[in-house]
Amino acid sequence: MTATLEARQADITTLRLDAIVNAANTPLLGGGGVDGAIHRAAGPDLLAECRGLGGCGTGDARLTAGYRLPARHVVHTVGPVWRGGGAGEPALLASCYRRSLEVADAHGLRSIAFPCIGTGLYGYPADAAANVAVTTVRETTARLDRIERVVFCCFSPEALGIYRRLLRMG
Ligand code: AR6
Repeated sequence: MTATLEARQADITTLRLDAIVNAANTPLLGGGGVDGAIHRAAGPDLLAECRGLGGCGTGDARLTAGYRLPARHVVHTVGPVWRGGGAGEPALLASCYRRSLEVADAHGLRSIAFPCIGTGLYGYPADAAANVAVTTVRETTARLDRIERVVFCCFSPEALGIYRRLLRMG
C-alpha cells in the first residue's frame, strides 16, 4: 500500500506509535546514543527480553515489546560502521530499513518511526544515509500490506532539513 512518509524533529522515546526503531549493535545489550535513550526510557525489562534474542546481524532486525515506552514495540536493527563507503555500507543500511519494515509488517504493525540509523557513533554521512533511508522506505512500503505511516525521527534541525528536502522531491 502507499504509506504516508513524514519527517519530524523529536526524541524518538516520546513517540506513541506501534513501533520505534532502535539503532542498536550486534549483541543487542544496549549502548550509547539512541540505543541508550531507548533502554533508559523502556526500563530493565527491555534488556531482559533482548538477552533472550541472542543478538542480531548487521542489516537485520528483531522485534521486542516497548515496556515503559509510549510505543508498543521496539524494532532493533544494526547499522553498518562507516568505513568510507566501499565496504557494502549502502546495501547494509538499506537492509536495516527494509528488514525493520518487514518485521513490523509481519506482526501487523501500522505505524513506525526510524531514527537516522548509523549516522551517530557509526559515522555514516547524514545526507547519504537519508537518501538510502527514504529510497528504501518508499520501495519497501509499496510492496507491504500493513504499514500505513512512517516517521523519520530527526534529532537535529540539520537532519530534519535533509529529510524534508528529500521527501519534497517525492
Ligand atoms: N531520539 C532520536 N534520535 C536520536 C536520539 C533520540 N533520543 N538520540 C540520538 N539520536 P547513534 P549509530 C540520533 O549513535 O550511529 C550505540 O551505542 C543521533 O543524533 O545512536 O547507528 C549503539 O549501541 C543520530 O542521528 O546510532 C551502537 O553501538 C542517530 O540517532 C551504536 O551506537 C543515530 O546515532 C550505533 O551507532
